Order: sequence, then C-alpha cells, then structure tokens
Amino acid sequence: MHILGIETSCDETAAAVVAADGTILSNVVFSQLDEHTPYGGVVPEIAARAHLDHIEAVVKAALDQSGIGWDRIDAVAATTGPGLIGGVIVGATVAKALAMVQDKPFVAVNHLEGHALTCRLTDDVAFPYLLLLVSGGHSQILIVGGVGRYKRLGSTIDDAVGEAFDKTAKMLGLGFPGGPAVEQAAKSGDPTRFDLPRPLMGRPGADFSFSGLKTAVRNTVERLPDPITDQDLADVAASFQAAVADVLADRMKNAIAEFRAAHPEGDTLVIAGGVAANQAIRARLSTLTDKLNMRTVAPPLKLCTDNGAMIAWAGLERFRLGKSDGFDAVCRPRWPL
Ligand code: KG4
Ligand code: ZN
Repeated sequence: MHILGIETSCDETAAAVVAADGTILSNVVFSQLDEHTPYGGVVPEIAARAHLDHIEAVVKAALDQSGIGWDRIDAVAATTGPGLIGGVIVGATVAKALAMVQDKPFVAVNHLEGHALTCRLTDDVAFPYLLLLVSGGHSQILIVGGVGRYKRLGSTIDDAVGEAFDKTAKMLGLGFPGGPAVEQAAKSGDPTRFDLPRPLMGRPGADFSFSGLKTAVRNTVERLPDPITDQDLADVAASFQAAVADVLADRMKNAIAEFRAAHPEGDTLVIAGGVAANQAIRARLSTLTDKLNMRTVAPPLKLCTDNGAMIAWAGLERFRLGKSDGFDAVCRPRWPL
C-alpha cells in the first residue's frame, strides 16, 4: 500500500509518497523561508500564494522521485488543519482534485496527528506512548492510545515552545526561524550566566507557561551593556534554552507519573514537532527517561519539522483502519487533537 501525502499548513509546501512498511519513496519539501524572512515571521497571505505557486512542482517531484505510478498509489492524504487556512485550502484542494481525477480515496489528516504518529514511521513504537508535541503553534503532552485516540495531560497556557524560541531569536537579532539559530548560538554560551525564571516548575500537573520567560529574556537583553557582544548573545541563548529544558523535564516528570499510573506497561516517551529537532532538549529528556527506565524516541531531524511524509504516514495509519473522507471534508484553522 502506498499513499501520497500533501502538507501546506504553514510555510513548507511539501509532498511525499510513503509505503505501508514505512519506506519513504520520496519526500519533497519546498521551504518558503526566503519569502517570509524580510517580515521576521510567516505572513499568512504570502504563504497561501506561495503554496499555490509551488504546489504543482512539489507534488510532481514527489511522484516522479517515488518511482511508482498512480496505478500503485492507493489513496491521497492532505493536511486539512489546524494551520494557516489559506495554505491548508490550497493543499487540501489539490489533494482532493488529484484523488477525484485518479479515482482514489481521500484521507483528511490533522497536522498534529501527523507529528504524533511520525515515530511509528521511523521507529518501532507501539501504542500506548507518551507524547511531547512541541512545535511553533502547539505545545501539548498527550497519551497516544491509538490512531485518533489522544488524552491530553497538559498544554501551554500561553506561548508554544517554538514560539518562545522564535521570539527569543528575534530579540537577539538571530533571525527567523529562531529555534535552530538559538540552539546554534547556545552551543558557545554559558547557561548559568543569567538566572531566568522556570514558570510553573515544581507545581502539580503538566501544563506549561512561557510568556514570563519571554519577558525575562527581553528585560535581560535590554540590560546588556552596549554594544552587545557575540558572547552576550550566546549566554542569553544558552540560559534561555536551559530554562526551557528545565521546565520541559519538570512537566514531563509529572506527566510520566500520570502515564505510568494509567499504563504500567508503557515505556516510551516520544518527542515530536519542530522543537523536537533541538538536541539539548532531546538529551535532557533522554536523561530523565533513562532514570525512570523508559526510553525517549524522537524522529530524525528532517522529519521533526513539517514535511509530507508525516502526513502520508498518518493518512496511511487511518486508511488501513478503513478510514477515509469525502471530498466535502472541511478545512479547519483550529482542530485540537
Ligand atoms: O512543526 P514545525 O515545523 O511547524 C509547526 O507546525 O509549527 O515547528 C516549527 C517550530 C518553530 O517555532 C521553530 O523555531 C522550531 O519549531 N524549531 C526549533 C528547532 N528547529 C525548529 N526549536 C528549537 N530548536 C530547534 N533546533
Ligand atoms: Zn508542524
């Protein structure tokens, strides 16, 4: 079984062909970064138009590189939300049109479910597992009981983790997207130089909050001696990243206790979403799970950030359970798991 997956919910125009055994036959990602960089963030109107400009070439490349024809493609999947709605509509409409013309079923995929299930494409992960889903728009801790079966243990009460990275990068003049730039800068920084707050740390539950940390970073940057040196920037980046890692580890400790109480056999923590690309955060959570006789699984870096393979795979997981959708499936800017 093979599925074509299309992803257009943010600023990546992406398509992939994936087989049921987990082979990725093609995975083409066109990043619109250059078109959004002058504005310091993703501009929804520009994203929607750019998806329209690039979708045809991206889908064609994914089909060509897969080495298989339509006769061996069983269904077409696309992100139908949550995300920037103009882009979502572009990808979903192209997917529906292709499915209609080629006489294939259409599978509507929740973008978050794409991130949540990617670990089963790349690693041997069985249900149930504990999931830390951290991207630019979402930060949640969920128990994944099966395809379409999610129990939320915690979520951010203000900013998403990726958003906190992006805003910190902006304050430090490190450009956009911020996550990789902050991680890079932090490598040569002293994480103990600035004593930044760890919001909600030590409290019960598994919710996060990052707006207080963001404000503290702003105050710290404003108080730096002029001119700001590269070392200052690196120290702020490292101190910020350490605070985020401390908060995530603390919140995950509570979530793991709750997960284990419900599923004593559960032994896997999965990190997914763009922020899962961060090596310092991965290492920190691995240390935590090692101590608790669990393992941490994170997809390879290029499958952490948005891509078509994760949508093809989530589509495949749904499709092989007999689930598909009508061409009237709606696109949704908000769609919680
Ligand atoms: O999942 P994703 O590609 O798009 C959304 O669905 O939001 O996640 C993008 C987010 C951005 O906020 C980006 O700064 C962050 O993931 N990110 C990182 C890293 N790479 C990407 N954050 C921290 N460290 C990284 N290495
Ligand atoms: Zn995403």
